[in-house]
Amino acid sequence: MMLASLLLLLAAGTAAARPAAGARTLVLLDAAADAQRFAAFLHDLEGRGHVLDMRSAGDLAKGAFGLVSFDELVYDHAVILAPKAPSFGGALKIGNLVDFVNAGGNVLLTASSEVSEAVRDFAYEFTADFDEPGTAVIDRFNSVGTDPTRVLSSAFSPSASNVVSDAIRSGPPVLFKGVAHKLSGKNPLSFSVLSASSAAFAYDPTDKQRLIKDPLAGHAISLISAFQARNNARVVFAGSADMFSDEFFDATITVGDKTVASGNRRLASEVSQWAFQEKSVLRIEATKHHRVGESGQHGIYRIKDEMEYEADIQVWDGEAWVPFVASDVQFEAVMLDPYVRATMNASGGHYSARFTLPDQHGVFTFKLDYKRHGLSYIHASETVQVRPFRHDQYPRFLTVAFPYYANIFSMMAGFFVFSLLFVFNRDTNTKVKAKTQ
Ligand SMILES: *[C@@H]1O[C@H](CO)[C@@H](O)[C@H](O)[C@H]1NC(C)=O
Repeated sequence: MMLASLLLLLAAGTAAARPAAGARTLVLLDAAADAQRFAAFLHDLEGRGHVLDMRSAGDLAKGAFGLVSFDELVYDHAVILAPKAPSFGGALKIGNLVDFVNAGGNVLLTASSEVSEAVRDFAYEFTADFDEPGTAVIDRFNSVGTDPTRVLSSAFSPSASNVVSDAIRSGPPVLFKGVAHKLSGKNPLSFSVLSASSAAFAYDPTDKQRLIKDPLAGHAISLISAFQARNNARVVFAGSADMFSDEFFDATITVGDKTVASGNRRLASEVSQWAFQEKSVLRIEATKHHRVGESGQHGIYRIKDEMEYEADIQVWDGEAWVPFVASDVQFEAVMLDPYVRATMNASGGHYSARFTLPDQHGVFTFKLDYKRHGLSYIHASETVQVRPFRHDQYPRFLTVAFPYYANIFSMMAGFFVFSLLFVFNRDTNTKVKAKTQ
């Protein structure tokens, strides 16, 4: 039982710990020369320890190339800065990218107004629905210069607090030029990170006609959204490749009466850190269950035992594992239905819950299952047997049982009296019968 739980924890641990140092990262560009445009972003990635392999969409079509080979990842992460790529080249099809995510690979995908079907199809697999090619996010109130497609936004979604830190939320707005996308809302694994401001809409900027169909508008427009698969692989969709370019990193914007640098560089850094498992990665360091007042863990307990379940949870802060503090971690004891569900008490990264086992014997699962947007999902479960009282553990001589005790003793007394009468009583009629014969 101990060994099984150890293995379980190891399995949970390896999926999570993936420091950037030495990470094999594929950078996919429309053309090799584009690396110049994204020099600062790529330099930041290298500075964090990523080993970059830059390919252009054309390269891929030529040679045999794969993201996953014999079920092993060839790359840990992929940055796709190739919005125009008509397809992802011979060996890199939509299916391969999906397999890559299924195998645990992380993807940062960018698009633009010239978004290709390949990019749209891939995003659609994750219910991120990019708008038609040729359309752009337009905002005549929050834009830079005379170009209404260079929009500014700082409408960060509250559910993305684990992706984007407060420093960025309260910092200068982010400059964006590209295509809108929307989340269908039906996929609980995806969530918006940055949406457009309320005056924005998505339309073809060259179209001078009146709007005929309802465009996507306001906060319904996602500029950046995130998806975390059940295997904890992460995918980020950004509607603008330009926002990762040097030009946008260095752009200055006017906030109030001050001219400041756009928030792009720091946002690009945090979003890529999140995408590539460098932040908000959790692991369960250890779990333990025991009776209150004891410390030994057993595989079998008795109904109505007073129990305590403990867990240590840690978060990767980019350099080391540190205690993870939250107030909403729950413990459950389940046998088909949850019999016990309690919010665990936290102190540092140590969580504990005290509970009484129910008056129900059988095989229970003790589990801790924590799934929050932006944090890697953690799960620990262990089965324990819960047995009924042994025959000598029941209480004795209960007051309510006195009628039954009286019953038994009166029966015994009655039987004794009856036996005496039966044994010592002579049947006087026997003689009479004998005479008549
Ligand atoms: C948390 O701690 C409080 C105070 O010690 C206690 O009353 C409560 O039962 C604890 N909750 C759990 C789930 O153990």
